Amino acid sequence: MKLELEDVRGGYGRVAVLKGVSFALAAGEVLALLGHNGAGKTSTLKAIMGLLPVRTGRIALDGAGLADREPHTIVGLGIAYVPQGRRLFPYLSVEENLRMGVLAGGSDVRVLEEVYALFPPVRERLRQRAGTLSGGQQQMVAMGRALAASPRVLLLDEPFEGLQPSLVQAILRAIGRLRESGVAVVLVEQRVDLALRVADRVVFLQNGVSAHEALPAALQRDPEPLYRYVGVRR
Ligand SMILES: Nc1ncnc2c1ncn2[C@@H]1O[C@H](COP(=O)(O)OP(=O)(O)OP(=O)(O)O)[C@@H](O)[C@H]1O
Ligand SMILES: [Mg+2]
Repeated sequence: MKLELEDVRGGYGRVAVLKGVSFALAAGEVLALLGHNGAGKTSTLKAIMGLLPVRTGRIALDGAGLADREPHTIVGLGIAYVPQGRRLFPYLSVEENLRMGVLAGGSDVRVLEEVYALFPPVRERLRQRAGTLSGGQQQMVAMGRALAASPRVLLLDEPFEGLQPSLVQAILRAIGRLRESGVAVVLVEQRVDLALRVADRVVFLQNGVSAHEALPAALQRDPEPLYRYVGVRR
């Protein structure tokens, strides 16, 4: 598996938001996408999913261009997206939400056993309406719904936002296990410390451009890019 973005440019109407985003991702790799507010992190994920018009450049999965494909087709090809703020169907049960993922990916319901193994608390709440869950529980269901599509690439937009420490650990563990099973993950995150704990590689976005790429170990030795591109104080 290989996901490639080459000089991707696009935006909303006439407003250019992405102005040259390039990176590549292989199976079992976790790539953290970091940058200031408004740098274009969410827009990059939307572009991959076909939710943001790409004007020039190329997005390809295993060499096949994704341009002009519908979002549901892209899910069917093996890319799943967990948007910021989770966005479950609040009036549907947990199980119905998970089945939406199975449907979207054209996968087998047996895949849900893997979801329950990854997130045991989800199994205990299958009949509960999704909107009544805590934020952390909703994050597990949102990731579970994405994984129910049996993706090869998982796009996560700020999965740790507003989560208490024990749930942060559960999500970190889940990302680690997905990596082991060969799923590639693009992790957009404001919490740089958490992102660096799971990332194999970091791409910094600045004003819609992929400005710098680094390994977490290199950032530990020299955190200057973290100051420059994310504004963290350490
Ligand atoms: N629907 C929209 N219409 C027009 N401009 C938009 C729209 N959504 C986002 N933008 C603009 O696109 C730019 C990139 O936004 P994006 O949401 O991709 O950034 P981000 O890196 O995810 O930021 P954050 O850290 O705040 O989530 C910003 O300047 C934003 O104002
Ligand atoms: Mg965002």
